Amino acid sequence: MLESTFNAIHIFSAIMKKNALVLLLLFLFVAGMNIPPISDSLADAPTQSSTVEPAPQATPFDVMTQVLTHQRCLNCHPAGDRPRQGDESRVHSFNIQRGEDGHGMLNAQCSSCHQSENNNFSGVPGAPHWHLAPKSMAWEGLNRIEIVQVMLDKGKNGGRSLEEIEKHLTEDPLVLWAFDPGVNNEGLPREKPPVSKEEFIKAVKQWVAEGAVIPAK
Ligand code: HEC
Ligand code: HEC
Repeated sequence: MLESTFNAIHIFSAIMKKNALVLLLLFLFVAGMNIPPISDSLADAPTQSSTVEPAPQATPFDVMTQVLTHQRCLNCHPAGDRPRQGDESRVHSFNIQRGEDGHGMLNAQCSSCHQSENNNFSGVPGAPHWHLAPKSMAWEGLNRIEIVQVMLDKGKNGGRSLEEIEKHLTEDPLVLWAFDPGVNNEGLPREKPPVSKEEFIKAVKQWVAEGAVIPAK
């Protein structure tokens, strides 16, 4: 009885070993079939260089409006009565309102907190004559074409000529602040517009010199 049990175990394990070998061979065979030859897959890869066109050159208008549409400008050119803050343009804290002249309400004047330069200890941004752009100069919610149309509209831009707009864009401390915006109240740097101050000024001057054309789209 005992002997026959040993025999049974012996035969069983012998069969298992054999089966395991067969399975292993089968697996290797199937796996081998599924690997595509390397040369084929290379031949099928698309030849990119001949199909992709070179990116069109950014025009001076493109470069200029990359700055005009940035939140560093829009936060101070809101559609409503409250300035915006931060890279996500949230409503300014402390219920700050534009007031009659854009300098804030009597008890919450911009200059109580905003000085003529950034305060990188408290995170309060600053530049000379820090105040809110009048409602007629609201850019929030407009696309880049509409912003430039409003910017050149003497009925809305404070009666400025093209020459005066060029001067404002290239010299005004509030515009130039956007390129050196300091840190926020968490000590993290505010995002800068995607082009440098020098590239922006060059693009504005070139755009004006070429006739201040606003493209159709
Ligand atoms: C701290 C607030 C503030 C920031 C930031 C700011 N502006 Fe202004 N902006 C003003 C105020 C206030 C006026 C109105 C000044 C006046 O009429 O004397 C103005 C006026 C203008 C004008 C002239 C009027 C018009 O609408 O054409 C232009 C152009 C302008 N801003 C562009 C910009 C650009 C571009 C940026 C960002 C790079 C910017 N501003 C950032 C407050 C700001
Ligand atoms: C009680 C103090 C206080 C007053 C008053 C105040 N601010 Fe601010 N302001 C702050 C602080 C603090 C921040 C920075 C918050 C941050 O970056 O998280 C700030 C940020 C801003 C920003 C955001 C800049 C950016 O692009 O992120 C704008 C725009 C602004 N203020 C405009 C104004 C205007 C315009 C007035 C007046 C009508 C004003 N503030 C009044 C404290 C004040």
